[in-house]
Amino acid sequence: MVKSIVAPSILASDFANLGANCKKIVTSGGVEWLHIDVMDGHFVPNISFGAPIISSLRKEFPESDANPVFFDCHMMVSNPEQWIEEIAKAGGNQYTFHVEATDDPERVINAIRAKGMKVGCAVKPGTPVDALLPFADKLDLALIMTVEPGFGGQKFMPEMMKKVEVLRNKFPELNIEVDGGLGKDTIDPAAEAGANVIVAGTSVFKAQDPKEVIDYLNASVTR
Ligand code: DX5
Ligand code: ZN
Repeated sequence: MVKSIVAPSILASDFANLGANCKKIVTSGGVEWLHIDVMDGHFVPNISFGAPIISSLRKEFPESDANPVFFDCHMMVSNPEQWIEEIAKAGGNQYTFHVEATDDPERVINAIRAKGMKVGCAVKPGTPVDALLPFADKLDLALIMTVEPGFGGQKFMPEMMKKVEVLRNKFPELNIEVDGGLGKDTIDPAAEAGANVIVAGTSVFKAQDPKEVIDYLNASVTR
């Protein structure tokens, strides 16, 4: 059985108070992962931040802690190989590249592993899940985008759940992550399809009671 994981997306936090915001969510919400969206302004039409910010955030969650927070880095970048070393040094734990950004996914996978990080691969809404199947057995995580990557606060695309079902049937133990528009209103189809890693930006960071939302999402996956 795969484990239920809620990964708050820091894209929805107040960047001027990033450390304090994340501390609050992690401590009060009891989450083990943070979802970290890196955008290069080329693969997606938006720029977020890169390794220096991740490195600063890592200081708030030192790897010397008993249970260091897991930095789930979603790399919306055109040249995924370019940033592997920097992200590893900054404290990234998992490096999720987009299949659309490379013609040699296996080479990217090997390069990520060589730097000691776990490996994820993501597909945009327009990319068939088949693009992941040839090498899915080499991944720690498959990310099915449920919005067009680039911005938080968009509407969940339920038609992407077919991709989750296909993957879950073939790979019972794989971490399957969904990202975009997830919250209390949209968790049910995602959980039923077999997603176990739930990225939640707006629904958690902008909530009155983030813990209540995190608990609800976790319970929906486990049910
Ligand atoms: C979108 C990002 C998401 C985003 C999700 O490109 O990959 O992680 O932060 O935000 P919400 O949960 O607000 O849709
Ligand atoms: Zn993301």
